[in-house]
Amino acid sequence: MNEILQNYSKKVDERLNKLFDLKGIPELLRNAMSYSVFAGGKRLRPALNLMANRMAGGIQEETLDIACALEMIHTYSLIHDDLPAMDNDAMRRGKPTNHVVFGEGHAILAGDALLNFAYETMLQNALKHSKNMQNHVKAIKIIADAAGPKGMIAGQSCDIEFEGKQQSKDELEYVHNHKTGAMITASLLSGIIICSPSHEQIGAVIAYGERIGLVFQIVDDILDEAGEASKMGKSTRKDQQAEKLTYPKLYGLEESYKLAERLTGESVAALSIFGDKAHELVALASFLLVRNH
Ligand code: IPE
Ligand code: IPE
Ligand code: MG
Ligand code: MG
Ligand code: MG
Repeated sequence: MNEILQNYSKKVDERLNKLFDLKGIPELLRNAMSYSVFAGGKRLRPALNLMANRMAGGIQEETLDIACALEMIHTYSLIHDDLPAMDNDAMRRGKPTNHVVFGEGHAILAGDALLNFAYETMLQNALKHSKNMQNHVKAIKIIADAAGPKGMIAGQSCDIEFEGKQQSKDELEYVHNHKTGAMITASLLSGIIICSPSHEQIGAVIAYGERIGLVFQIVDDILDEAGEASKMGKSTRKDQQAEKLTYPKLYGLEESYKLAERLTGESVAALSIFGDKAHELVALASFLLVRNH
């Protein structure tokens, strides 16, 4: 799986490099944007988009810009997540965080710029594939819903609001499904929607995405408590310090892992209608459960 992910990363990075050959914008802004995008993330969301697209019989060229846009939105969310006003983190992707290097003002602006540039990139791509325009608009709408106030931002809002408070299991699941799960499901769905999938295929991909999305954040919580900062490229033991609501806090490490295991099994089962074509996403689900960074 490491090798498969590296191959996808390489394709995504080649396209990102082309997209970030930005002319006519202030150098400081361009540097602040590029710094975090090229700091070395796992490129999971683009990989999900490209894998799902392949599973549905798509043409990779048609979704590569969408995959890059997903990474831009994800990177912007990390830059803002690390700000002193949010999680106040000093390390990300093995480097000092954006605001530590460029100052808070430019970290905020680099995030704003990445979010807008993501939509610019996807709209430009839709115009390029105008024969399939309706499906491209659907893909962009899926991503906008997931990134916005009904999705990731809702999760981030509650994540902050719930700090230091006693909350229920349902509220914890809500936070994780929104702050992380929404973009993970949207990454997959936007990859297949441009292939005019059936209702059954859409349902299967949503069922898979929702489960691995939750698993991804449960494992992130586990790694924050029990992982190695040097492997992860970001500080650990921060959630407890900030009195965050996490799975290990509510269920303990062992129970959290068992839950993640069960969800992984369910996620794989959901893809059965795709048969052998689902092999990459099936392997990825198990990989996400045992990741150490
Ligand atoms: C970190 O995401 C934020 C979460 C949603 C847990 P990743 O673990 O995918 O971070 P990168 O992209 O590899 O840096
Ligand atoms: C971040 O969750 C989710 C988003 C950025 C939307 P975390 O705050 O747990 O992510 P890390 O641990 O800082 O990567
Ligand atoms: Mg956070
Ligand atoms: Mg954080
Ligand atoms: Mg975390």
